[in-house]
Amino acid sequence: MLNLREVHSGYGPCEVLKSLSLEVRAGEIVALLGANGAGKSTTLLTIAGVVPVRAGEITWQGAPLPNGKADAVLRAGICLCPEGRHIFPRLTVLENLISGSYLLPSNRNAAKLEEIFGYFPLLAERRNQLGGTLSGGEQQMLAIGRSLMGEPKLLMLDEPSLGLAPQIVARIFEIVRLINRTGVPILLVEQNAQQALRIAHRGYVIVTGRNQLTGTGAELLASDEVRQAYLGE
Ligand SMILES: Nc1ncnc2c1ncn2[C@@H]1O[C@H](COP(=O)(O)OP(=O)(O)OP(=O)(O)O)[C@@H](O)[C@H]1O
Ligand SMILES: [Mg+2]
Repeated sequence: MLNLREVHSGYGPCEVLKSLSLEVRAGEIVALLGANGAGKSTTLLTIAGVVPVRAGEITWQGAPLPNGKADAVLRAGICLCPEGRHIFPRLTVLENLISGSYLLPSNRNAAKLEEIFGYFPLLAERRNQLGGTLSGGEQQMLAIGRSLMGEPKLLMLDEPSLGLAPQIVARIFEIVRLINRTGVPILLVEQNAQQALRIAHRGYVIVTGRNQLTGTGAELLASDEVRQAYLGE
């Protein structure tokens, strides 16, 4: 479905991705792991069209993905749920959710809200509360819910568990798995390598913008390199 072939990208004089290749196939959860500054967020921003590709190519469903055009990428069905959530603090939970569906006819909103409130009943209870007054975990749920409102064909999640209590983290991973079971492929960037690899079909480890290691979730979990570098063993 999504293919990155030897992609280079970066910011001004600073090249961050240096020939990165990766693939997300239909129905998969793919984990993207790497140290701080390795280029994980840059990878997602490059796919999302926020950071342009300088060399190499990205294809989506067999055709080139519009380069550096965030709007066109979103219209193609690829949605990034960014690092740090970026919900609208002065809009209510419900307004935040509806904002995620602006590309779609509004008669689909009710069914989508029902699905999202099924994943996160707490958001239903707090539908009229301002986004900025939610806890960190609730804001993360809201950010994921808002992404789902656009009916993505590929969902990219950047560090959804960052800074959250273990119970909430477990819940978020469970929901990611449930979303995937509805047929949505997921590209998941995570610090929490162990839990990410447990739910991922495949994963990639990147080092300074280059491919280091790839394999199934189980292979990477068992690999000495991953265990030492990311699981603290
Ligand atoms: N807007 C920007 N302008 C210039 N350099 C940037 C910008 N954003 C990121 N970088 C640099 O690009 C490199 C990769 O950053 P990126 O955010 O992709 O890393 P990451 O793997 O997501 O790290 P983390 O785990 O800390 O989130 C870093 O050296 C960072 O300083
Ligand atoms: Mg990052």
